Amino acid sequence: MSNGEHESNLPLGLDVGTSRIVVARTADKAHPSPYESQLNAFITLPYSKLAESLLEREGVFHEVFGGELLVTGNDAQKFAEVFRVETRRPMSRGVLNPQEPHSLAVIRSIIARLLGKSGVAGRKVFFSVPAPCQESDPAIAYHEASIRQILTQLGFDSQAIQEGLAVVFGEMSSSNYTGIGISCGSGLCNVCLAVLSVPVISFAVPKAGDFIDAQAAAVTGELATRMRVLKESTFAVNGLSGDRVQNALTVYYDDVIRTLANALRSTICSTQRLPKLDQSVPIVLSGGTAIPKGFLKRFTTALRTEDFPIKISEIRLSDDPLNSTARGALMAALC
Ligand SMILES: Nc1ncnc2c1ncn2[C@@H]1O[C@H](COP(=O)(O)OP(=O)(O)OP(=O)(O)O)[C@@H](O)[C@H]1O
Ligand SMILES: [Mg+2]
Repeated sequence: MSNGEHESNLPLGLDVGTSRIVVARTADKAHPSPYESQLNAFITLPYSKLAESLLEREGVFHEVFGGELLVTGNDAQKFAEVFRVETRRPMSRGVLNPQEPHSLAVIRSIIARLLGKSGVAGRKVFFSVPAPCQESDPAIAYHEASIRQILTQLGFDSQAIQEGLAVVFGEMSSSNYTGIGISCGSGLCNVCLAVLSVPVISFAVPKAGDFIDAQAAAVTGELATRMRVLKESTFAVNGLSGDRVQNALTVYYDDVIRTLANALRSTICSTQRLPKLDQSVPIVLSGGTAIPKGFLKRFTTALRTEDFPIKISEIRLSDDPLNSTARGALMAALC
């Protein structure tokens, strides 16, 4: 950790995502870039002194845990390719993965690496949590308490912020923090309608990038990781073509977009006592799953704004979809 970090008491924003953990900070000399991220993934290797010293020598981010070496964060992907194994994931659908015994240890290690110890006791950090997919989701309370405990142990004063609201904070200063923030991530699509920064409706849809990867892999007989790589490199949402992988990705992308648009419409329609909005409000799409060309157009068509229950002024894609949640968490922490 740099001296600058030790002395700083400036708040931080932390996006604890199913796929990536991102920290946002006010840029300074020690951190010229406001964002830093690590993959929320790991692999395990059998422990040996030699392997440990080699990892140390190579500067690989790792920990010894229960007789195993855990290689975590961005290095996990690199080593998964070297050893031809699949990376393991500490989180699933926006919360700690109940099937993964190492989940907490890995997330603690990644957060500690990104944030360091709070130089000044009680430094403020806002961290993202998902909204429930149904009326209530008891798993979120455990997830939130676990992340809070990690942050407290590192000396931070933490506060949770729902991911959709973080997008509103990060993207909608020009509309007085009024509008609909959507983050289409890996485990979930998180949505929040906020009026003057106050969340009015928050919910999540349990279909996003991981769903697309898994379903496209299942119908093509490919590996989900290969689907993910193709999706992130060459894919565009522009209809069916002659290519079966492209078609499979298109079908499940369409499914995600329709499910999200329908859920947004039906949730708003069924909300009693919607706030009276004098003006039309913007929708901002963010998150990695919103990146491919054609996503915005397809979503706009699926939403049918002409007869949407709230007047929409514009639908746009965030300028920085992968950092939008962390940025919003930081903005909220600075308020
Ligand atoms: N350039 C890209 N094109 C298409 N998809 C992408 C691109 N970059 C990332 N993704 C996909 O976006 C998803 C990750 O997005 P993001 O980092 O916003 O998720 P997350 O915040 O970790 O997850 P969640 O919010 O659901 O907990 C993954 O499914 C990844 O494959
Ligand atoms: Mg996210």
